Amino acid sequence: MTEVTGRILDGKATAAAVREDVGAAAAQLIEAHGVTPGLAVILVGVDPASEVYVRNKDRDASQAGFHAQTIKLPAGTAQADLIAEVERLNADASVHGILVQLPLPGGLDQAAIVPRIAPSKDVDGLTPASVAALVTGQPGHRPCTPSGCVELMRRAGLELSGRHVVIVGRSQLVGKPMVQLALEQNATATICHSRTQDLAGHCRRADVLVAAVGVPKLVKGDWIKPGAVVLDVGINRGEDGKLVGDVDFEAARQNAGWITPVPGGIGPMTRAMLLVNTLASAARSAGTDLKALGLSG
Ligand code: GUN
Repeated sequence: MTEVTGRILDGKATAAAVREDVGAAAAQLIEAHGVTPGLAVILVGVDPASEVYVRNKDRDASQAGFHAQTIKLPAGTAQADLIAEVERLNADASVHGILVQLPLPGGLDQAAIVPRIAPSKDVDGLTPASVAALVTGQPGHRPCTPSGCVELMRRAGLELSGRHVVIVGRSQLVGKPMVQLALEQNATATICHSRTQDLAGHCRRADVLVAAVGVPKLVKGDWIKPGAVVLDVGINRGEDGKLVGDVDFEAARQNAGWITPVPGGIGPMTRAMLLVNTLASAARSAGTDLKALGLSG
């Protein structure tokens, strides 16, 4: 008997396709408008996971033909100095995207720093101006992880309209903006968190389940509605040192229609959407847009 298991939603391959499209559009922007997309990433301190993420972002941007720079500041950097660095990048016309890697070391107040990023360069979509634009349906940068979830489904031909998206996790980076993006796609959205009663019951009603809590294998196989799309945002280090998601992958795969692996699922899509946002920002500075550069969305 052949076992029917969920098909893999291959974020790695899809992200490579997005990067290729971004590279072609960037080349056109450079040729037709003389503008090279510029991405600046600020990394404060020495968190090993953040160092890997930042290195990957820098490499992706360079390979797409962007001008990429990583600004490394010591863990003891004063808040005023970090804000001064953000302001310097705000004023630099060659920089179209600014990302302050999170989490910041102790002593630095994220809530005081992130809003200082110019909204036009806020390619993370985290400033209050970007959040307001998202909630009110105005143009603006959308956070990369939830937009990576939407783009992965779009490129796989998976419909969101009318479907029930259940999100586990209420973070600023993923859970909260995912609700808005799901609504933008005409889905019905439910958000669950650590105080939610009957989490399993909510998950079992999901046509699309987004797990973004940072708890290894929290979501069990029998919480998955048969045929559901499972998007696992979690990146946790297992006891054996390997990366594991927030979903019990092997068990969930028995019920899911489609499921993202960890690694190779949402992570690469997040980075790809950072390039899309930076390209959009560069295009706007040149008086054009992604559509005119041949990038559909
Ligand atoms: N740390 C983990 N993910 C992210 C992200 O998407 N943006 C920022 N700024 N920091 C992160």
